[in-house]
Amino acid sequence: MTIIRPDISARAAAAPRSGIGEIVAYARGRDNLMPLWIGEGDLPTPDFITRAAGEALGAGETFYTWTQGIPELRQAIVRYYDRHYGNNLSVDNIYVTGSGMQSIVLAIQAVTSAGDEIIHLSPAWPNVVHAITVAEAKPKSVVLDFVDGQWKIDIDRLASSITPKTKALFINSPSNPTGWTATKDDLRAILELARHHGLWVIADEIYGLYYFDGARAPSFMDVMEPEDRIIFANSFSKNWCMTGWRVGWMVAPAEIGQTLTNLIQYSTSGVAQFMQKGAIAALDHGDDFVRTNIERARISRDILCDALVATNRVETRKPPGALYAFLKIDGIADAREEAFRIVDATGVGMAPGTAFGPGGEAFMRACFLRDPKQIEDAADRLSRYIRAR
Ligand SMILES: Cc1ncc(COP(=O)(O)O)c(C=O)c1O
Repeated sequence: MTIIRPDISARAAAAPRSGIGEIVAYARGRDNLMPLWIGEGDLPTPDFITRAAGEALGAGETFYTWTQGIPELRQAIVRYYDRHYGNNLSVDNIYVTGSGMQSIVLAIQAVTSAGDEIIHLSPAWPNVVHAITVAEAKPKSVVLDFVDGQWKIDIDRLASSITPKTKALFINSPSNPTGWTATKDDLRAILELARHHGLWVIADEIYGLYYFDGARAPSFMDVMEPEDRIIFANSFSKNWCMTGWRVGWMVAPAEIGQTLTNLIQYSTSGVAQFMQKGAIAALDHGDDFVRTNIERARISRDILCDALVATNRVETRKPPGALYAFLKIDGIADAREEAFRIVDATGVGMAPGTAFGPGGEAFMRACFLRDPKQIEDAADRLSRYIRAR
């Protein structure tokens, strides 16, 4: 039960409970549960990463450290972009944070004042939308089109939603929950709008390597010029199975680096040094692990989507990116209610599309970053339920 006290701030009181957290709290810990409801897989962080962090911890690296990240980690992130994106960044573009979520929060804080608008595409990961309202800015959703089982952006709709109050475009590609992945042409068109209207782009590319039609998804890095106003939010969570570590980073113009460092200072004051040592190992020695993990996700994606589409009662194409099947199941009137019913009947936990805002109401989200055998089991349970419905 939530008790709203009159002595807390209106904006804190207005932040709603996560629609994903609600179903997790309802069924967590049950026997025979198949938890496809949140965005993480079944593998723990690989040894070569935990060992590096453990060694640093054992060596007494337990003091306050650089607010914006230790120089060695910022260098390792520069090398990561060089390897995967062919981009020649400087450490002055890199800011280490306490998660992808914190990167998003700080990017919003950095570019908006109270009452400013941030436009985001919808359905969207709800944390972003609520982080915007907690910052006293206004989220404005532009709904993606769902055509023939696939999600598409309507650039004209995005353009016509821009007002004099708009400060930034929040673009998450590949997208949680839809898997929508911007083409280079989409990115160019979005960037053109941002340039024309003098807007910031907050580019959430944390699923950039989770792309099944090539080595990585198209990125704003491919189309931007050095003077473009883009803040990238990124994270160690998904690529290297480090969701519980809470470490992420931002890439931003060096001119706002001191501001970002200050915002880190006045929130978490930086990330533990021993964890940063683990993060360096992830970046420098993790490419093979990431490739294998993504291939495993692709196999599981195919198993899940093929089995559910075969029921003839589920509409989806295989998502080109990210970790989620966003499923339109025939006859769902209220996805929230349905998520409770499905977990009770099958033990498969999915996130209701209602949690992801406009456009998501008729959908259920299932994360497929999991052992293909388990996904086969989940697909089997869901197919039987859907056929019998
Ligand atoms: C689109 C998107 N952005 C950012 C994040 C943040 O990840 P983390 O806070 O674990 O780094 C997530 C996590 O699910 C996400 O789905």
